[in-house]
Amino acid sequence: MSDTLTIALSKGRIFKETLPLLAHADIYPIDDPDKSRKLILDTNHDNIKLVIIRATDVPTYVQYGAADVGVAGKDVLMEHGGEGLYEPLDLKIAKCRLMTAGPVDDQPIKGRLRVATKFVNTAKRFYAEKGIQVEVIKLYGSMELAPLVGLADRIVDVVDTGNTLKANGLTPLEHIADISSRLVVNKAAMKMKHHRVKQLIERIAEAVNS
Ligand code: ATP
Ligand code: PRP
Repeated sequence: MSDTLTIALSKGRIFKETLPLLAHADIYPIDDPDKSRKLILDTNHDNIKLVIIRATDVPTYVQYGAADVGVAGKDVLMEHGGEGLYEPLDLKIAKCRLMTAGPVDDQPIKGRLRVATKFVNTAKRFYAEKGIQVEVIKLYGSMELAPLVGLADRIVDVVDTGNTLKANGLTPLEHIADISSRLVVNKAAMKMKHHRVKQLIERIAEAVNS
């Protein structure tokens, strides 16, 4: 294992909201991921790097040890399953809810309920626990469109203000989980880089609680 500590983050909301937490641990990226095309960002420490990846890929990089630590939404972690990861800290950022949603003017559904989502495993588990048979249709984004064009009867997606649902004639139905982003740590790195990882967790925890 190298002596570099690699932290996996996604661009956008998670990067922006994690920056102040990293700053409290005296970690500052040198490049701005919105301006640079680089996927590995240097920081003010020679032995700490940030890797910038898709939000849904963060658990995978950390599971396989390609990153030691990462920040991922609980929605993404529930879908991934959490194998090979510790989840030591709730960062209380990027808060939203994972919900089912359907058309405001819902029509009676004939046959099996069709559910469009990028959270296939979570959706299957949720409906199975309710004893409802569903056909889950995997999408990669813009789930709100699916009921409008007759692709699905329901969607499973994250909801914050509800504006996206409302703008598309949909309404939230069932609450699946409260979501926030978590710090995740590779299980081997937690042992092999224990001191540095523990220090990072402690500094970030201070920032979360302050
Ligand atoms: P990908 O790029 O892999 O498709 P994404 O577009 O969902 O991922 P983001 O939009 O940056 O990535 O969302 C990252 C995380 O932020 C999500 O996993 C979720 O936990 C949270 N999130 C998503 N949408 C919202 C929202 N509207 N308000 C608050 N938090 C949100
Ligand atoms: C997310 C999510 C929903 C929306 C919910 O999209 O995919 O569509 O936020 O938020 P709301 O309830 O406040 O409308 P985001 O804005 O992150 O865009 P993207 O994931 O498609 O980039």
